[in-house]
Amino acid sequence: MTSRGTIKLKLAQEFCRWSGASTTFRTLVPPRPGDGEKESYHNTYRAIDIRHARLRLMDVFEEPTRARTIPPIINVRMAKGGTGKTTVAANLAACIAMQGHRVLMIDADPQASLTTMWGIDWAVEDITHIGHLLQANESKTDKLTREELEGAIRPIYSDGMLDLIASDITLTDIDTWLTSVMGRELLVAKLLNAHVDVFSRYDAIIIDGAPGTTQLSNALAYAAPHLLAVVMLDGQSIKAMEVLAANMQEMHEAFPDRPFDVRIVANKFSSQITACRDALETLRAAYPGKLDSNIIPTAAGFLRQVSLVNEEDSGPVIEREPSSPAARAMVDLSRSVIGAYDIQLAGLTPVVMPRRQGGSSAVRAAMKKAAQPEPDEPAAQPDPRGRASKKQQAGDAATAKERA
Ligand SMILES: Nc1ncnc2c1ncn2[C@@H]1O[C@H](COP(=O)(O)OP(=O)(O)OP(=O)(O)O)[C@@H](O)[C@H]1O
Ligand SMILES: [Mg+2]
Repeated sequence: MTSRGTIKLKLAQEFCRWSGASTTFRTLVPPRPGDGEKESYHNTYRAIDIRHARLRLMDVFEEPTRARTIPPIINVRMAKGGTGKTTVAANLAACIAMQGHRVLMIDADPQASLTTMWGIDWAVEDITHIGHLLQANESKTDKLTREELEGAIRPIYSDGMLDLIASDITLTDIDTWLTSVMGRELLVAKLLNAHVDVFSRYDAIIIDGAPGTTQLSNALAYAAPHLLAVVMLDGQSIKAMEVLAANMQEMHEAFPDRPFDVRIVANKFSSQITACRDALETLRAAYPGKLDSNIIPTAAGFLRQVSLVNEEDSGPVIEREPSSPAARAMVDLSRSVIGAYDIQLAGLTPVVMPRRQGGSSAVRAAMKKAAQPEPDEPAAQPDPRGRASKKQQAGDAATAKERA
């Protein structure tokens, strides 16, 4: 496997909504140390490269600081085990990061499957999990410091593009402790707010929840009331969705001001199986407007996400088999989730190919020029600083517009 979170040119262009020339696209990515002469000729792109390229396409050359607010939180839940929560959480996190957003994952399951998926052996590593952080944040004598919180956050992709608060089996103990604490439902929100400086660095937070309902899942739901429910297409899973909906109703009654809501992802769809199709229709009818239109198919690629040979070769299907139908389904789902949860890029809402709209004089000039093409015009040369010049970008925007 290539290094974590790197993607090839075609996918990089797709994630930047780029339909211009590849030569120009390459110049959007700043040179990396050690690139030498090939500095603006990348064939693989890291998540941070996509972030820079997308910001440049918005004419933003310095990364803006996000407001000191908690970013959107995708709280992946289901009352039943094995429906694909971890699979969806890991792939969504990777797809969203690869599209240039900074993402923090929280493994909130003592089974630590998300931690394992990223090749971390929780049985031997020293893990500070979300339960430890909650306890430390409540401590009167030894309050959680920013350094301790940052120490619990593990980098998965470089440059803070994808980070993880890992888990291990001892997270089961946290429910006993939570039961003894007054106002336990509020503790996750308290932790987030106490360290908003750290959490606001991210454009999105993704929580992989344990199956069922626990004190911890209630505290997570209070802080992150927009649930992403992963439902497998069989009778038992649909019953489990009813249990989750009832749990949400209870939370709503206890905290009427919180905006509890659910978005449903249907997983393991096989079009040849009648029961699958029926289950999908049942879900659609029972939860109108809640079912995401992107349905995840049953695919063997998902079974290969955890390597039995080498832990470090484990990873979500979008990393391992990025062109497979399974990965494509996850990319489509991530786009829909980015829209539904209003996930931004450094506090900005990316506009698709802004220069296509002819907003700047450079674009208008380029469009005029593109209307009368010069057949022997030499290919655009990259700017020595590794930036696409306005003229190059505008020309590509005009070409894209023509194609559109
Ligand atoms: N669409 C799919 N097609 C085929 N296999 C899948 C699919 N989605 C998930 N799986 C497989 O099903 C198993 C359970 O998936 P996963 O661990 O994501 O579920 P989970 O809901 O997180 O489980 P748990 O409740 O134990 O946390 C895994 O082996 C995974 O690879
Ligand atoms: Mg899981």
